[in-house]
Amino acid sequence: MLSVSNVSVNYGESRILNDVSIEVPDGKIVCLMGRNGVGKTTLLKTIMGNLKVRKGTIIYEGKDITKVATHRRAQMGLGYVPQGRGIFPFLSVYENLLMGLEALPSRELKHSAEKVEEVYEIFPVLKQMGKRVAGTLSGGQQQQLAIGRILVRSPKLLLLDEPTEGIQPNIVEEIEHLVMTLGKKGDISILLIEQFLDFALRVADYCYVMEKGHIVSEGNTTTLSQDIIREHLSV
Ligand SMILES: Nc1ncnc2c1ncn2[C@@H]1O[C@H](COP(=O)(O)OP(=O)(O)O)[C@@H](O)[C@H]1O
Ligand SMILES: [Mg+2]
Repeated sequence: MLSVSNVSVNYGESRILNDVSIEVPDGKIVCLMGRNGVGKTTLLKTIMGNLKVRKGTIIYEGKDITKVATHRRAQMGLGYVPQGRGIFPFLSVYENLLMGLEALPSRELKHSAEKVEEVYEIFPVLKQMGKRVAGTLSGGQQQQLAIGRILVRSPKLLLLDEPTEGIQPNIVEEIEHLVMTLGKKGDISILLIEQFLDFALRVADYCYVMEKGHIVSEGNTTTLSQDIIREHLSV
């Protein structure tokens, strides 16, 4: 589905990602972990095309997309749910979902009502709250909306940046359940950045650990040593 090979990225003169390689196989959930500031968000932005690759390649569904524009990547099926959610707080839930459809080519827009209904099926609470102003939803509901806004485009690869950040512990379980449900559908692959180790290990098939801009450890979640991960996550 996705192969990032030996990718390096700078902010100005400073090298943020150094020779990063990761794979997201078809229909799998892959987790990227690491302390704050190591470059996790930078990697997702790079995959989405928001940052320029200095070295290396990004292959998506067999095509080299290293230089493809962001909106084209969205049309090709990449969906990015940014850290901090990025919803429009002053628009209604329904309007937020419609905004998600903007990236689609116009020939697909005629199905917009259907797409919104599909998302309402996954998140019934969003249907109940369709007319509510998004900024008044709870943290967990806003996260559902942020994900829903991307799901209306039927992405094939979902890039999820810390969906549980700033969310009450009891809602974290809901988000975990949601990620698992999406993963089980089988028609979507997920690259997840997650700080909750237990959550990450339960939902993901494979895990990467990042430290200062490169991958320092990786493995199947069933065999990867939790001690190694904890060592890299602890301050
Ligand atoms: N817009 C920016 N300009 C310059 N440096 C940045 C910018 N965004 C992030 N950085 C730096 O890049 C590094 C990686 O950041 P980031 O990818 O957000 O880390 P993470 O998501 O792992 O917490 C940090 O040192 C951060 O200070
Ligand atoms: Mg981040």
